[in-house]
Amino acid sequence: MSLTIQRDKNEFLYQQVISMIRHMESASTLRPGDRLPSLRQLSEKLSISIPTVKQAYGELERQGLIEARPKSGYFLKPSRYDAKQPKRVSLSQQPENVSRQSLIEKVFDAIQQDGVMPLGVANPSAVHSSDKALARIMRQVISKAGSRAIAYGPMDGYEPLKRQLAIRYLELGLQVDPHEVLVTNGAQEALSIALQCVAQAGDIIAVESPTYFGVLELIESLGMMALEIPLCPEEGVWVSDLASAIEEHEVKACIFSASISNPLGSFMSNETQKEIVELLESKNIPMIEDDVYGDLYFTERRGGSAQLFSKKGLVLSCSSFSKTAAPGYRIGWLLTNRFADKARRLKRAYSCSTSLLNQWTLSEFISSGEYERNMRSLRQGLRRNKDRMTALVHRYFPPGTRVSEPQGGGVLWLELPKGNDSEEIFYRALEHNISICPGSLFSPSDKFSRCIRISFGIPWSGKVENSLQQLGALCHK
Ligand SMILES: Cc1ncc(COP(=O)(O)O)c(C=O)c1O
Repeated sequence: MSLTIQRDKNEFLYQQVISMIRHMESASTLRPGDRLPSLRQLSEKLSISIPTVKQAYGELERQGLIEARPKSGYFLKPSRYDAKQPKRVSLSQQPENVSRQSLIEKVFDAIQQDGVMPLGVANPSAVHSSDKALARIMRQVISKAGSRAIAYGPMDGYEPLKRQLAIRYLELGLQVDPHEVLVTNGAQEALSIALQCVAQAGDIIAVESPTYFGVLELIESLGMMALEIPLCPEEGVWVSDLASAIEEHEVKACIFSASISNPLGSFMSNETQKEIVELLESKNIPMIEDDVYGDLYFTERRGGSAQLFSKKGLVLSCSSFSKTAAPGYRIGWLLTNRFADKARRLKRAYSCSTSLLNQWTLSEFISSGEYERNMRSLRQGLRRNKDRMTALVHRYFPPGTRVSEPQGGGVLWLELPKGNDSEEIFYRALEHNISICPGSLFSPSDKFSRCIRISFGIPWSGKVENSLQQLGALCHK
């Protein structure tokens, strides 16, 4: 279809623009998540005024076909599908021993294989990579600091980075003393230290259901037990379920997502965080919050931190730059609260310190303002990919497939129709050079054996679309 307007036609110009966009949508030239031409571009292309294009876009927005995103432009909205979100699971009656390590190993091996489409790895920063900026800054740091940059750094972290983190927390309304920040090797080390500060082998740890498999792997390797608390796709942990679980079992600590969860992508509001912290602190139960996805939100505003509501200092916050900038730098952190001494001793015993060069580079990256700018583009790219991938799942997966509606992050969680087994699909997909995460990784029980997690946090290409088509064909109707 050529992009032309007929001035002699008995139809208003803005209506012709509307028909044009609608035609492009039905012919799949424009797909959910695609950005429409800007007002200026289209007005120049069609030789019509900007207000005319604006009138057309306004009408399309009112009709629900497109949406305006602040400072980003107009986008085709995902269609309204009949499919529903994955079902909420019921509360577990008993804590479980965890044995997921060997399957996790296989999934990690699959991701590393050459030529494999990495739908199984959550590496959202690849959608808008910071690698060039970081490489430039790292070169500057090396030439400025010389051998100091590769010396052992302070055990608890590079001071300027800790200050930058404290400043970022101010934006969440939290006053953090840089001395309370312990820099770690990724969020995984932060979670490990936090867990060992508050619990020991044999203890019961409440986790989200489904939960990030790294949490289960930690619980397994530390000889603890996991008690699953259902996660509501829209809101995070159900407070009433948590209340009955801690009434019934001697829960030693909880590990929950701060605002955006993995794999569901649910968003926990400040109100829910407050209720949870008040409930847990009334029973002196520590809460470890995992905030690695907090900055990758699609909601209007970023979610908060459970720290905001802690009165007894029992909340430990873990996060990292792995999802927002550079997973390979392995820079994370822990807000130690009242467990500072124990956390420092554990850090010293396990890894002595964290790469100074990487901390230094990230610290300069943040203070220059580039980190924040990059994240803005990253969020837009991820949101666009989320819409595209959701549309493709609806096109290629069997009817009855349920899909999450993530409020942030980089993954979709699918519940497949009966008859599907996620581990079987994992092995079959690998034969087609596609990696996915089988649902059984995300729970110590078999609750999610029909679910899979796929990542939209990858640079978009025709190959991604083909892989989704192949993956959909592997699932039973
Ligand atoms: C929810 C969640 N927490 C923690 C981590 C670990 O992060 P890091 O790579 O910084 O150790 C991940 C990594 O995938 C994750 O998804």
